[in-house]
Amino acid sequence: ILDHITRIALIPGDGAGPEVMAEAEPLLEWARARGRRLEAERLPYGADHFLATGETLPEAAYADLRDRFDAILFGAVGDPRVPDGRHAEEILLRLRQGLELTVNFRPCRPLPGTRMAGLHLEVFRENTEGAYCLQGSSEPGRAVDLAVHTEGAVRRLLEAAFLRARARGCTLTLAHKANVLKHGHGLWLRVFQDLRAAHPEVPARGMHADALLCALVQDPAPFGVIAADNYLGDLISDLTAAFAGGMGTAPSLSWAPHRPFRCAVLAEPVHGSAPDIAGQGLANPVGMILSTALLFRHLGWETEARAVEEAVAATLRDGARTSDLGGNLSTGEMGTAIREQLP
Ligand code: NAI
Ligand code: MG
Repeated sequence: ILDHITRIALIPGDGAGPEVMAEAEPLLEWARARGRRLEAERLPYGADHFLATGETLPEAAYADLRDRFDAILFGAVGDPRVPDGRHAEEILLRLRQGLELTVNFRPCRPLPGTRMAGLHLEVFRENTEGAYCLQGSSEPGRAVDLAVHTEGAVRRLLEAAFLRARARGCTLTLAHKANVLKHGHGLWLRVFQDLRAAHPEVPARGMHADALLCALVQDPAPFGVIAADNYLGDLISDLTAAFAGGMGTAPSLSWAPHRPFRCAVLAEPVHGSAPDIAGQGLANPVGMILSTALLFRHLGWETEARAVEEAVAATLRDGARTSDLGGNLSTGEMGTAIREQLP
C-alpha cells in the first residue's frame, strides 16, 4: 500500500498573486525536505490564460482539481484588462461553490510590536451563498440582488464556529441583521439558537452587525470567534485585517467540513490582485505565507505550521517590513527573510 501523497494545486492568478505565490512555493519544498509527502502542480488559470484562450476555469480542469487533488493554494484573481471581472468571478465561484467550501476562516492575530498585539479574533464567514449567489436582475430604474441562505450551509458554518469557540474556550458572536433581513437572517438566528442549546458551554450571542462594527472599533478584545454570512463576513474580516496590520498580512483558509470531494480545502490571502502595486515587488507576502501555514495545520502538519508562523513573527520582530508596513523590503526580500528564520 502506497503512503498517501498530498497533492496540492497552485493557482497564482493575477497581479500580485504570482508575486506572493513565489514566496509560498519554497515553503512546500521546505516541508517536503522535512519528510512531508506532497506533490505540487502549478495551474495557469487567470487573466493571461483567459485573454489568450477565452477559458476561465474549464470544466475538465475543475473536475481534475476536484477529484485528483487534496488542496489548493491560491494567490488572487482580478485584472484591469478584464473590466467586468468575468474570469475572476468564474474561477473563484467555481472553486468556492463547486467544491462547497462553506467555511472561510479568517484569523486576526496582530503581530508582535503592533498596536493590537495580543488580540486573538477569528472570523468564520460563510463562503458559498448569501448575497454573493449572483442571482438578480436589472431593468431601467430598478435592480435586484437576491441573497439565498440554505440551512445546510448555515449549519455547517455555525457548527465549525461553535467547535472552534469550544476548543479555544472563547466567546462566539453571530453577526446578523435579522431585524430587517427577516427571512435570511431569521434562518441564521434559528440555526444559531439550535446550536447554542447543543453547546451550552460556549458563551454565544447574536449581535446586530452595525452595533458589532461599532463595538469592534471601540474595543475588539472581548471578541473571540465571530460568525457571519458571506456579505457581512467579508466586511467584518477586512476590518479585522486592519487590526492585524492591513490587507497584506491577513491569511484565510476555506474548507468543506462535510468533505463532498477529495479536494476539500483552499488557502489564500484575504487580499485581491492589488493592481495598484502589482509587478513592482511591493506586495507583502505575509498574508500568503500565513495562509500556507493554515493549510499545513489543516493537513495535520502542525510543526511546520507553527514553524512558519514563528518565522513570520520573528522576522517582523527583527524590524523587517515591506512598504505597506512602513519598511523598504521587496516582496522577494521579505520572503527570503522569513525563510531564513525557518528551522
Ligand atoms: P485588493 O485587496 O487587491 O487591494 C486593496 C488594497 O490593499 C490596495 O491598495 C492594495 O494595494 C492593497 N494590498 C492588497 N494586497 C496587498 C499586499 N499583499 N501587500 C500590500 N498591499 C496590498 O482589493 P481591490 O483593490 O478591491 O481589488 C483588486 C482586484 O482584486 C479586483 O479585480 C478584485 O475583484 C480582485 N479581488 C480578488 C480577490 C481574490 O482573488 N480572492 C479578493 C478581493 C479582490
Ligand atoms: Mg473582502
